[in-house]
Amino acid sequence: MIDLHGKRAVVTGAASGIGRATAGLLAELGAAVVLLDRDTERGEQAAKDIGGTFVRCDVSQRADCEHAVRSTVARHGGVDVLFNNAGIIRRSTVTEISDEDWDLVMAVNVRSIMLLSGLVVPLMAANGGGSIVNTGSGWGIRGGGRAVSYCASKGAVVNMTRAMAIDHGPDNIRVNCVCPGDTDTGMLADEARQLGENPDAFYTDAADRPLGRIGRPRDIAQTVAFLASDAAAFVSGAVIAVDGAGTA
Ligand SMILES: NC(=O)c1ccc[n+]([C@@H]2O[C@H](COP(=O)([O-])OP(=O)(O)OC[C@H]3O[C@@H](n4cnc5c(N)ncnc54)[C@H](O)[C@@H]3O)[C@@H](O)[C@H]2O)c1
Repeated sequence: MIDLHGKRAVVTGAASGIGRATAGLLAELGAAVVLLDRDTERGEQAAKDIGGTFVRCDVSQRADCEHAVRSTVARHGGVDVLFNNAGIIRRSTVTEISDEDWDLVMAVNVRSIMLLSGLVVPLMAANGGGSIVNTGSGWGIRGGGRAVSYCASKGAVVNMTRAMAIDHGPDNIRVNCVCPGDTDTGMLADEARQLGENPDAFYTDAADRPLGRIGRPRDIAQTVAFLASDAAAFVSGAVIAVDGAGTA
């Protein structure tokens, strides 16, 4: 049912975690994959392992995004799937967070989606359509402690997904949002570090949800692959939690 042969996919945050797993799965399913990340060493390695192409890109910077899209078009002639996935977290309240950290979280998690989608939507429209998937979070649906900038950014991702689906539906561009629960990636380990918590205890707490475990990057990748594919031809503007019923 899910066949991505002939599709050209761009994946951000593809050097690790959910992005890397998704880039790998999209390639397994037949897509030509371009991996974007600010981490050149790990990005190049991921591209080599997967059989895709790496382009260094800080997704919060317009010039980098323009370069990445130009490189993709030069190599593949267009873009059919855009997975806006790169993200960062700062575990702080409004009384703790610096202006710089606030702006950084909003730039990496939200502005990036505006920048890359703004460049890719006209290409998709000219080619008869496409699929954009944005990575939200359970904390885009409900709140969480000591993560105010992250919660603000992911709430924005959830609702900009709906706005984009409305704006670009007439061009046959579907826009959806996948909302992972706690997933076993570098980000989760980084959160434990930022909060000064014991990683084992942090992971045990994170697994406290109806399905009794944390997510694996592949769990999220499989949902993204579905949304990217023609099997999801009538799915747009959807916000899909992939979290073992964590937000239920
Ligand atoms: N891991 C979780 O528990 C969890 C839960 C909900 C949502 N998410 C979301 O999933 C997405 C992927 O995170 P992950 O868990 O795989 O984390 P991760 O840290 O393993 O991967 C994030 C990747 O994004 C890259 N990146 C960061 N800033 C960038 C920038 N400015 N430009 C380009 N690349 C940049 C990093 O280099 C890294 O490769 C994020 O949007 C995150 O908010 C993760």
